[in-house]
Amino acid sequence: MSAQQSQALPATPRLPEEVRRQLDAIRERYPTARAVLLPALHLVQKLHGGWLPDSAIEAVAAELDLDPAEVYGVVTFYDLYHQKPVGRHRIRVCTNVSCMLRGSDEIMAALHQELKVGEGEVTADGRCSYIHFECLGSCDTAPMMMINDKYHENLTPEEVQRVVRDLE
Ligand code: FES
Repeated sequence: MSAQQSQALPATPRLPEEVRRQLDAIRERYPTARAVLLPALHLVQKLHGGWLPDSAIEAVAAELDLDPAEVYGVVTFYDLYHQKPVGRHRIRVCTNVSCMLRGSDEIMAALHQELKVGEGEVTADGRCSYIHFECLGSCDTAPMMMINDKYHENLTPEEVQRVVRDLE
């Protein structure tokens, strides 16, 4: 490989100095780099507007001296990490059996109508995004959805509309 070719290789992304300082403070509380990975990803995701672009994932891997494939594995395993932008209010609609039998399709349709974006997209004001989800453990109050950490149960399309309009 010529010197010119090697200069064209992309450098591993690095976290900004301020983020590295915050990460150092977190690190002191954990015994290993692997143990600090989850809170590190939370920190970087929060500072990056709620999602993790590839550059941020690779920067975390470099900072913790972990294999990027391992960090990608963690990011894709947990629903709490996002590889594309999400709304400030993240809506998850259960479409598993109980909820499906009790109208989750209508709940998804009501969200589409109210928010005017498709599943997985973010509203123009950055307020909301929604996705369907597997059982959220509230089958006896189907159909239901979760907005951030809060459950909304026994839903109707009208109730969905009201709840979404009340979000800041
Ligand atoms: S099936 Fe919807 S919460 Fe379980």
